[in-house]
Amino acid sequence: MRIVRTVQELRREVSDWRSSGFSVGLVPTMGALHAGHFSLVERATTETDRTCVTLFVNPKQFGPNEDFAVYPRDEEADAEALRDRGANLLFAPGIDEMYPEGSATSVSVPGLGDVLEGEFRPGFFTGVATVVSKLLIQSMPHRAYFGEKDYQQLCVIRRMSADLDLPVDIVGCPIIREPDGLALSSRNAYLSEEERTVAPRLQAALKYVADVAGSTGDHMDAARGAAAELVEAGFTSVDYLTVRDASSLEQTSDPSANLRVLAAAWLGKTRLIDNVAVG
Ligand code: PAF
Repeated sequence: MRIVRTVQELRREVSDWRSSGFSVGLVPTMGALHAGHFSLVERATTETDRTCVTLFVNPKQFGPNEDFAVYPRDEEADAEALRDRGANLLFAPGIDEMYPEGSATSVSVPGLGDVLEGEFRPGFFTGVATVVSKLLIQSMPHRAYFGEKDYQQLCVIRRMSADLDLPVDIVGCPIIREPDGLALSSRNAYLSEEERTVAPRLQAALKYVADVAGSTGDHMDAARGAAAELVEAGFTSVDYLTVRDASSLEQTSDPSANLRVLAAAWLGKTRLIDNVAVG
């Protein structure tokens, strides 16, 4: 596996692959890799001839009071794990390579990017859409892989990619969970031992609300009750726990709509997000 740090080297490698007739899969990451990321790499290596992983902790998607400075970073361990899993190229640019002095353009997805996470983390999805559109344009893959763990992010990236006519298939991959149900996340490392025992309650709450929504019960009432129970179980607060249309993320009363239950909740100083499909 080659490691490259400039857009020029990335482009040269991918264009050599494409001229040899190889299909290319891209797995964008911020590092601190875990089994969730590895499942994306495995899918990319299975479905395409060459897999490029990107590792860039994107400052534009962190708010002023968020964890950019302390976000876990271990490029050597990440690179070794990726090599073992058959990735062909790691693109690990510095901040100046991605955002050279004078760079001013950003990509935002109003509507989809303003609700739920967008309400609680203003600017987050503009940071994500900007960096992901750059990575897609820089590397020109045939397919790009994203986890459903960040479900709203996946919806925003699909919208952005369609709106900009990017010639890439955006592939959503299932959430990978611990045996007790906690969705894998690099930020789980912040949980204390006690918080870690409470954390799986989030998925349980989502499943309960999904069951109610699936049986056409009053899911708004169920969501309110489930949020209150999370706080009783030890969560510090719940930013949202809600049932939405699975594509638009709008509230809907259409009985035939495809639904998704999404939540974000604080456990001490750690903010967990998770989601489950209805039905
Ligand atoms: O999901 C992530 O790790 C990041 O948001 C992404 C897609 C790599 C963009 O920085």
